[in-house]
Amino acid sequence: MTGVLRPGHAQIRVMNLEEGVHHYRDILGMTETGRDDQGRVYLKCWEEYDHSSVILREADSAGIDFFAFRVLDNATLNKLEADLIEYGLPTTRIPAGELLETGERVRFTLPSGHDIELYAEKTRIGNGLGGINPNPWNEGAEKGIAPLRLDHCLLYGPNVMEVQKIFEDVLGFQLVERSLTPDGEANMGIWMTCSNKVHDIAFVEHPEPGKLHHLSFLLDSWEKVLRAADLMSMNDVPVDIGPTRHGITRGATIYAWDPSGNRFETFMGGYTVYPDSEVLTWTFEGLGEGGGLDFAQRKLHESFLTIVT
Ligand SMILES: [Fe+2]
Repeated sequence: MTGVLRPGHAQIRVMNLEEGVHHYRDILGMTETGRDDQGRVYLKCWEEYDHSSVILREADSAGIDFFAFRVLDNATLNKLEADLIEYGLPTTRIPAGELLETGERVRFTLPSGHDIELYAEKTRIGNGLGGINPNPWNEGAEKGIAPLRLDHCLLYGPNVMEVQKIFEDVLGFQLVERSLTPDGEANMGIWMTCSNKVHDIAFVEHPEPGKLHHLSFLLDSWEKVLRAADLMSMNDVPVDIGPTRHGITRGATIYAWDPSGNRFETFMGGYTVYPDSEVLTWTFEGLGEGGGLDFAQRKLHESFLTIVT
């Protein structure tokens, strides 16, 4: 891994800031790491080393403002920006410090309508365990559902095949799994990695641009996914699907909604991807009856294709 390293941060819109903070900090169990003069709230998962991974912005509508990837260094950032421009995608430089504790960002808009950012610098504040003989987990920081990290997102918008080409040809991502359109002629859904994870970002074809399907947070066991379901129920968090397993990516999952209607996922599992891994294909029927979405129930929950923010 030398180019794009991992998902870094997502800025999402919530309709009531304190309700959003209560959800992400107190129920999901992220740590609040700052607030800026625009009123945005910054949070990190306990195991993340960098300053923040979720930024909440109060707005009149829910959804995602941008999703960002951390790249190796500033030389990589400059190279990827030049490659994006050469490919025909205009970029914008956002100055260091516009987001707290974050360096300069390169932003561009995908043909799906999503703003994606790349950056090389964000202050490391660590997971509280130190680097010498560390404990395996942080008793003080692990609270609520307590995911390890922001793992990936699923975005909905048009032109998924063009998006795939940009991630493959410019950003160095690898297609891991895909689902086909009903006629089998094109990819309706793509699951892509910049690492050896089963996915770092995914897209599904959708007529409205720029939509968020879910932000996903990683847990380290199936038992913790079930515990997350308990905590959702105990805290009146509306659940969409699960606990169950996706056939696609093999992730064990719960889909649920934050108070503004943004879907989030708590999940574990998946498998290791190598550069020579074969792309796995799901037919349109396979997404539902084949268990792609819900392997236990083998049905295409209507909300999967219709509810986005
Ligand atoms: Fe997911």
